[in-house]
Amino acid sequence: MVLAKSLSGPIGIEVTGVDLTRPPTTEEVATMNRLFVEHSVLVVRDQHFTPHQMLEAVRLFGEIFEQHNKRFALPDCPQIHYLSNQDHFQESGKRYIPGEGYHTDHSNDPSPPKATVLFAVELPDSGGDTQFVDMRAAYDDLPAATQRRLEGLQAFHVYQSRHSERKLMPLSPELKAKIPDAVRHPLVRTHPESGRKALYLNPIRIESIEGMEEQEALSLLEGLLAHSTQEKYQYRHKWKPGDLVMWDNRCLLHKANGDYDHTQRRYLYRVMLKGDQPF
Ligand code: SIN
Repeated sequence: MVLAKSLSGPIGIEVTGVDLTRPPTTEEVATMNRLFVEHSVLVVRDQHFTPHQMLEAVRLFGEIFEQHNKRFALPDCPQIHYLSNQDHFQESGKRYIPGEGYHTDHSNDPSPPKATVLFAVELPDSGGDTQFVDMRAAYDDLPAATQRRLEGLQAFHVYQSRHSERKLMPLSPELKAKIPDAVRHPLVRTHPESGRKALYLNPIRIESIEGMEEQEALSLLEGLLAHSTQEKYQYRHKWKPGDLVMWDNRCLLHKANGDYDHTQRRYLYRVMLKGDQPF
């Protein structure tokens, strides 16, 4: 039976009492889907998965979205990618911490993934939390004049914005050729399931705002990001072994923390689920 308990922030719900290696009933899947849409971060505790079992479990919630950069794919289950603190940039030799800095996943895709799912395989003794912020509440709290100013604004998203402080692992020329140079998405999007509006920002991928001068766009985006990432909009997930966490990219930003002892391995499996074109 699915047992649900709210988590410490304005978003997030914890589920216990299910073993996703045994197919749950249709009602249990519907309950978890409803909880996911309502609370945006679904934490299913105490799971034990091989990569293939995780893939099967995640398919209960939608179709798998193919990640653009294939370099982190597991060789024997390539739809699952890994997140690890043990990789380094080739050029600088600097440690690569995937997911540092607030962002939403793959927003440079015409139809970005609705959800991302992580499964904790190995964790440091402390630290390495994932932080999430609720972009619906952040939008709702904006002054009416700012909401009006944002109406109809469209942003161009690219693989790696030249304004981003965080650097991504470079794409190979073959992969680069397969994805669009830039896609246009509204700065405020409507959730296709709940109908709620949310700010749709991504400091790593937004290159410009259509029809707006660069300095004005950067200062607007900076102000909106500072507003949305206030603690009152945040849920901070402290990982436990066996956690499966699924979050809603349509109405959240998230970031990983590199604030732990890097002699200890942090290793998670990662899958994304297909989404719609934002409107
Ligand atoms: C991500 O952005 O997908 C990574 C999040 C994490 O490692 O906590």
